[in-house]
Amino acid sequence: MFEIATGRMTAKAAKRVVIVFAHAKGALTPAAAMVDAQTGGAVKAALRGSRFGGNSGEMAKVTVQDGPVSTVLVAGLGKASAMGRKEWWKAGMGLGAQVDAMGVKEVTVALGDGDGNAPLAEQALALLEGMQMAMYRFESFKTELKPEQAAKLKKVTVLTSAAAAKAVAAEAPRLAKLMESVDVARNAANTPPNVANPQFMVDEAKKLEKLGVKVEVFDEKQLKKMGCNLILAVGGNADDADQPRMVVMKYEGAGKGAPYTAVVGKGIMFDTGGYNAKPGNYMRGMKFDMCGAAAVLGTMRALAARKAKVNVVGVMSCAMNMIGKQAFVMDSVYTGYKGITVEIGHTDAEGRLVLADAIAYTIDKHKPAELVDLATLTGACMVALGGGYAGLFSTKDALANALAKAGENVGELLWRLPVDDYFTSKSEVADICNDSNGGYGGASVAAAFLKKFADKTPWAHLDIAGVANADKIPGANKHLKGGTGFGVRLLVNWLEGAKAVDEEDAKPAKRGRGRPKGSGKRRGPGRPRKNG
Ligand code: BES
Ligand code: MN
Ligand code: ZN
Repeated sequence: MFEIATGRMTAKAAKRVVIVFAHAKGALTPAAAMVDAQTGGAVKAALRGSRFGGNSGEMAKVTVQDGPVSTVLVAGLGKASAMGRKEWWKAGMGLGAQVDAMGVKEVTVALGDGDGNAPLAEQALALLEGMQMAMYRFESFKTELKPEQAAKLKKVTVLTSAAAAKAVAAEAPRLAKLMESVDVARNAANTPPNVANPQFMVDEAKKLEKLGVKVEVFDEKQLKKMGCNLILAVGGNADDADQPRMVVMKYEGAGKGAPYTAVVGKGIMFDTGGYNAKPGNYMRGMKFDMCGAAAVLGTMRALAARKAKVNVVGVMSCAMNMIGKQAFVMDSVYTGYKGITVEIGHTDAEGRLVLADAIAYTIDKHKPAELVDLATLTGACMVALGGGYAGLFSTKDALANALAKAGENVGELLWRLPVDDYFTSKSEVADICNDSNGGYGGASVAAAFLKKFADKTPWAHLDIAGVANADKIPGANKHLKGGTGFGVRLLVNWLEGAKAVDEEDAKPAKRGRGRPKGSGKRRGPGRPRKNG
């Protein structure tokens, strides 16, 4: 984390290492031209004979002989008209990686009118957010870090218009709270499974109590009493210290009586596949199978730290999927919290089991107006969408659209896939089966399983298998490593009220910040739609 300072962009303001922007054909933005003038035209001269074309993702490093400016990093943006928030965020990631590689302590960003297509302060904040994303490091288990490898950047000064500088300064502390929370999610995701067991998530949740989050924990004995036999089937055979935990975090920012939104995360701290053991190298990276839960943790932290005006219940369903002498086996039948019976068709389809109990419990006890779950649920979703999109499944169009819009805002993209009952896996002996239904349409099969437990509550499911771990699909997340924290920024953006306005949602009332969700404008009694 670096400190954020602001200042006015003037003819002499730039110092030492400066980041400026250029558009297609290498045309410097007005702010970049001011910096160039300050260097006596050194930037333009250097770019002239170079290959730099000002396209998005391109970067040029110009060393200046004398004067207060020593290095100018010129980042290409492509067309100014195409530069929305998401593009600035992406540019920030490229710059963050570059600045980190340079090992400088301080940089200045020169940003003026005409640089892009969003309000100036928004451009700056998205850029800073991207820089933070790319500069995150997970080093708690390294003992051989050389000094020259350590993070160096301490401070970023944004030089811009007076009004934008004021707005950036006002928002910077809130951005820091968001990004610290993304880091909390990423740290949890990256922590190895011999350290990060279900109790680890309990300890992480308890840290949020000082922010005003109420934390309730159910251990294996309580889960047994509650009838959560699905999470117990998956994790109940683990060593005592690794037994399942369901963690319920409540944050009430909208006041008593206002409806709750629920976010539920899959927290498989390690997924061996059980007796349907993962073959070959497929088990590698399965410490990331708790990234849904990590996203819920980070989201709750961010909302509480930012004092968001929403009521949210965040649930992490945590277990280890191990083999052992009492590990669950295929053909068994278990009754979940809701009373629905499930035949085990595959022990590697454990995520939908731990989620089923958590979703049913959350709906029964907390009656949320809407429920969103996040899970690294299927390899099939990865095959379908790769590493650039998470799968989105929903029984309510307005909810799906709002989530997709929030994802678009923050660069965490969602793509909607079907979840109608056609995909539900039938069982000869129980109500439903957790098998792959022949292996086809696996992401939708898993989603249809969850839908049965969400029942009539407006629900959306995000399958984050391809996007939660940046190392999984090479090249998909150029400047990220390990856990990406996917979902935290998306959910915070959505919950804080930057919601999509579509036909169904655009009714008279203005969709202000913190508007109690679920008030008015619900079409019908929230009945799940087919072909969601
Ligand atoms: N955790 C996995 C899904 C996964 C795979 C996440 C790769 C990230 C990367 C999940 O528990 C799983 O094993 N799903 C099975 C389901 C199948 C057995 C019905 C799958 O996708 O193969
Ligand atoms: Mn599995
Ligand atoms: Zn899994």
